[in-house]
Amino acid sequence: MRRIIGVVGVVAITIGSLVGFASGVNGPATATDPQSRGQYLVERVGICQDCHSPRDDAGAFLPDQWLGGAPIGFTPTTPMPWAGMAPPIAGLPTMSHEQAVHFMMSGEKPDGTEARPPHPEYRLNREDAEAVVTYLKSLTSQD
Ligand code: HEC
Repeated sequence: MRRIIGVVGVVAITIGSLVGFASGVNGPATATDPQSRGQYLVERVGICQDCHSPRDDAGAFLPDQWLGGAPIGFTPTTPMPWAGMAPPIAGLPTMSHEQAVHFMMSGEKPDGTEARPPHPEYRLNREDAEAVVTYLKSLTSQD
């Protein structure tokens, strides 16, 4: 009986760590420092890389140009304001820390306009916006 419980325990731990790995709960999701939390929010919640990171011909991300800006590879089916290029956000070259926090909380850029679709108008709370900006500012600007 004890052996069965032991085997069940090992299986449970193995499944637990696989699930944990897949969902990222062992990774930055549990991090409390703003930069790691920001990386988690950018890469796993906002999926910013989908638009803002360039890819090679096979569709794989170019790691040395992470979040370095990329063309948008699709168009809307109905007319709407549209931006065909996702600008570089590594290092956030066009915004100060505070301007970028405001942008992530309101969708408003420093010049008072809003980013056009397909950029999603995020409405993060200040803590999450601070974390996202801390992470993006930690990346080297490729401009
Ligand atoms: C579905 C595509 C898409 C996703 C996902 C996306 N963006 Fe964007 N983003 C864009 C496009 C396109 C623009 C340019 C909009 C314009 O020119 O009006 C933009 C603009 C921006 C800008 C303004 C940059 C500047 O120099 O004006 C910032 C900052 C930004 N995005 C950050 C983010 C962050 C952070 C995330 C993830 C939390 C994200 N974006 C996710 C497409 C996207």
